[in-house]
Amino acid sequence: MRRKVAAGNWKLHKTIAETKDFFDILKPLLRGESGPEIIVAPVSLALWTASQCAAGSSIRIAAQNCFYENRGAFTGEISPGQIRDAGATHVIIGHSERRAIFLETDDTIRKKTKLALAEKLVPIVCIGETLQEREAGLLRKILERQLTYGLEGINAGAADMMLAYEPVWAIGTGKTATPQDAQEAHDFIRGTIRRMLGNEFADSVRILYGGSVKPDNTASLSAMQDVDGVLVGGASLDANSFIEIINNL
Ligand code: PGA
Repeated sequence: MRRKVAAGNWKLHKTIAETKDFFDILKPLLRGESGPEIIVAPVSLALWTASQCAAGSSIRIAAQNCFYENRGAFTGEISPGQIRDAGATHVIIGHSERRAIFLETDDTIRKKTKLALAEKLVPIVCIGETLQEREAGLLRKILERQLTYGLEGINAGAADMMLAYEPVWAIGTGKTATPQDAQEAHDFIRGTIRRMLGNEFADSVRILYGGSVKPDNTASLSAMQDVDGVLVGGASLDANSFIEIINNL
């Protein structure tokens, strides 16, 4: 049985004070350790604050990105070691906004994932197709490429990492994939991972769905056999809407 995951990706939102306010509202609403695993990814500058606020609760903190070296002359970057030092346990890698706006490739994503694993952070590796790719019938080809090159040579247990399927056309657009679309992609992803990393890994690794997840579509997505949770952008910014998502998983 794979434990469900609710991960909130705040992107470039919230000040330190707003970060504190969010946890003040969310924490009393939690039902303890028994429910889904909860992860919140604030901006890097709020990682320490968020991890302090989450202390004593079941909430885990994630960075939204990291670099693939731990130190050196890399102006503006933050490293997996520093993320850990700031109290986070997870890191989102290869989000489609990083791929599209910051030109990240499968190659950089693999390097980041390897270093995150070496630093004992749990990478949440994102993959997904654009609308043009989907319409051109390239869904499987794109996912296979992102998995093959993005995870090549990765040596990890299934508990050490997570995958997130985020169709680019569903992110921030209000267009959610249907539960059937999500299931079909997740099933393909698990099958590909099975060939790459074996049965044990494929059966246990959590594959999250992301793209316009809201309180009212969470349950139907979560009911799909291979959807092990959600990666939520916009609807994770409000603690009351995020707790509804958590409770609907
Ligand atoms: P959204 O973002 O929920 O606002 O569509 C999801 C994501 O980009 O992780």
